[in-house]
Amino acid sequence: MSPLLVTRTLPEDATDAALRADVQVGLTSTPKTLPPKWFYDARGSELFEKITELPEYYPTRAEREILAARAGEIAAASGARTLVELGSGSSEKTRYLLDALTALHTYVAVDVSESALVQAGEAIMAERPGLAVHALIADFTAPLTLPDTPGPRLVAFLGGTIGNLLPAERAAFLTAVRGLLSPGDALLLGTDLVKDEQVLVRAYDDAAGVTAEFNKNVLTVVNRELGADFDPDAFAHMAVWNTGNEWIEMRLRSRTAQTVKIPALGLAVEFAAGEDLRTEVSAKFRREGIGAELAAGGLELTHWWTDPEGRFALSLSTVR
Ligand SMILES: C[S@@+](CC[C@H](N)C(=O)[O-])C[C@H]1O[C@@H](n2cnc3c(N)ncnc32)[C@H](O)[C@@H]1O
Repeated sequence: MSPLLVTRTLPEDATDAALRADVQVGLTSTPKTLPPKWFYDARGSELFEKITELPEYYPTRAEREILAARAGEIAAASGARTLVELGSGSSEKTRYLLDALTALHTYVAVDVSESALVQAGEAIMAERPGLAVHALIADFTAPLTLPDTPGPRLVAFLGGTIGNLLPAERAAFLTAVRGLLSPGDALLLGTDLVKDEQVLVRAYDDAAGVTAEFNKNVLTVVNRELGADFDPDAFAHMAVWNTGNEWIEMRLRSRTAQTVKIPALGLAVEFAAGEDLRTEVSAKFRREGIGAELAAGGLELTHWWTDPEGRFALSLSTVR
């Protein structure tokens, strides 16, 4: 068996300029924010996998139902020889596509989490000796250089991860994805749909507290990489539905007035009692809205599939 082809476009060390810049900007802004990509060190990726198994977290099960029912149609429509998956994580649901894409030559998994990427890539290589597997350690919000592999290309972005991008970031992202596609290629996009507020809030605030631990993991990452002295217990996990923007916000609410030191940045960050640090948005979509966003990025939505309960959608788009 050939070894897993690992390519790194991110610096080895997580104390890199991007983390420093994000923490510097995010914690000196009002309101305070941090981008969700910093959740995903090895522990964060493990916690995310636990979240996908929680009774309250329906998106993974709903998306899996769609893939189980529709992978054949997706494969027939795309005929892909290369599958590129952005934010692939454990690549667990990807197996439905790998099984259905009978002409597949190469699978390119792209993620910031090296541990998740290498574990998933090695498992897939062991399962499918005939498939070329690339693990690309990269930030999908930055320009991507993909390996030169046979087309047609199917770019998959599952899990509703697109909802973690703010609207302007989504627009830039879709335009960049369009740039990765040639005529005959396609984008398979997983989007969580607008639904009852209680169902949404419970999905991000589970009874067992796994999502709370995942949320606080970003503080542990900043402590480890930048020498900060965040006390995770001094913050409460919050999941709040923002009706105007139709997104869930995950926040960490300071339980008391406190000062957090971040020596690597020479920063002392003041938190008022009850002040929130926003760590993630997870936008929920409607068909018309995401169709218009795809069109603005130069993509045409050609297929739309939902699970029987209408909780989650997979769409296929081609170059306009
Ligand atoms: C919500 S999880 C989804 C994982 C998997 N696709 C699924 O459907 O279960 C988001 C994944 O995207 C990765 N990720 C988050 N931000 C990223 C970024 N900016 N660039 C590359 N990967 C990113 C995380 O490490 C994680 O594996």
